[in-house]
Amino acid sequence: MHYHSPSTSVSLMSLPLGDHPPLIHTPPPGPASSALIELLAQSECPALTARRARRKEHSGAPSDPIVWREAVGANVVDADGNIYVDLSSGFGVASLGHRHPLIIAAIRKQSERLIHALGDLHPSDVKIELLKRLGEWSGLTEARVILGSDGSDAIDAAIKTALLATGRPGVLAFEGGYHGLAMGPLSICGYSSAFRAPFKHHLSPHIVFTPHPSPTTPLEKAISSVLQSHEEATKAGISIGALVIEAMIGRGGVREPPPGFLRWLRSFTKSIGAIFIVDEIFTGLHRTGPRLLSMAHGADPDIVCLGKALGGGLPISACIGRGEVMEAWRSAPSGEALHTATFFGNPLACAAALASLDTFESLDIENHVTQLGQMLLQRLLKIAGDFSFIREVRGRGLAIGIEFVNSSICLRTISELLRCGYITIPGGPEGCVMQISPPLLISESLLLSFVECLSSILQTLHNQTTTTKTTHAS
Ligand SMILES: Cc1ncc(COP(=O)(O)O)c(C=O)c1O
Repeated sequence: MHYHSPSTSVSLMSLPLGDHPPLIHTPPPGPASSALIELLAQSECPALTARRARRKEHSGAPSDPIVWREAVGANVVDADGNIYVDLSSGFGVASLGHRHPLIIAAIRKQSERLIHALGDLHPSDVKIELLKRLGEWSGLTEARVILGSDGSDAIDAAIKTALLATGRPGVLAFEGGYHGLAMGPLSICGYSSAFRAPFKHHLSPHIVFTPHPSPTTPLEKAISSVLQSHEEATKAGISIGALVIEAMIGRGGVREPPPGFLRWLRSFTKSIGAIFIVDEIFTGLHRTGPRLLSMAHGADPDIVCLGKALGGGLPISACIGRGEVMEAWRSAPSGEALHTATFFGNPLACAAALASLDTFESLDIENHVTQLGQMLLQRLLKIAGDFSFIREVRGRGLAIGIEFVNSSICLRTISELLRCGYITIPGGPEGCVMQISPPLLISESLLLSFVECLSSILQTLHNQTTTTKTTHAS
């Protein structure tokens, strides 16, 4: 694929974009990005402007954003014409890369026919095809599917399903878990209590949080924490009807539970008659290698939630449930379509999702992601050993996290990487974890150049911190 820029320098115009190394000719954020951000600050929600200012102050590094103008494959071009490598996949959406040709073709074809229908009342043919396809794809028995526009919608649908199916409002959720910020998912957001606090009066009082185990937590300890939380819930008169867990904590710091834990949760939820909901909005669709991480753990959920990469860049999500659980909707009291929205099942997004599934299925993606991920993890582990401000490097497939000792050093590293043309994002408790989740089809050579660049940035930061310490000491 070739990039034809209307305004960047002539030398860029003939370069193939998508798998291009970074090309920064104006230190980011350049004047065009900065002017747009100033304009944005006059009209966006003030919370976002304030957060930017806080981050800048906290890291002591320039952290104004770049403004995206175009993106193809692993590359993003900003308003100043700089070319970046997107190691975030746009929050995990562009798993197939930005503007994958098959997704674009499907959207174009669909747009010539139908871009909007009457949702659940008079649905589109393409929505019906997607529901069938997702049900089969999930492997859940007699699966039924509720579509949504974003991840929060899928989680909302899953929580409602559990309540209808069990009649019990209690939900066991995990500390550190992130499921979206609409009011339903916010109730179970264990990522940070700061997200919940201002809205606490509108949140469900039936939620119990339990610690999320790390990959090295002994299984018995992980199990006993859940049992204890369940016991506490019972004592508090909260009747647990659902357990919700991310197959691997993503935004909360890239942490996979220990082997056997998800499988145990399956049997535990069965034993208490609760619905086992696995949030695969980030991990699903091969982000960690297999199509669903929970299935690789042998977990066999009642409900799986998908989003992000499903639409190849268009907003669509899915709550996919086992037939016997989803039956609860049939006998819902009023006989109404209790869970619907104007844009659920939008034909353009459905066509893009079908093209995504086709594309994933046409590739040997599981092996590719596993091998590329192992290579990247090994390289990162090797360089991390040299720096005492790195606490841990972990992950699976192309979902990797580097945990720093504090958020300031993490944010500075992210800022320096951006200046070199690599886009990464912070996550984890207090923003100490740098998340690396590149497009799954990214080339090995781009990843190797990234590792090299990261290594030299870390070395510079290391030298700066040791110089500062020496200066202070003298
Ligand atoms: C695991 C997980 N669940 C749910 C969500 C919420 O999805 P959305 O932001 O599309 O509502 C996210 C978003 O980052 C996520 O990572």
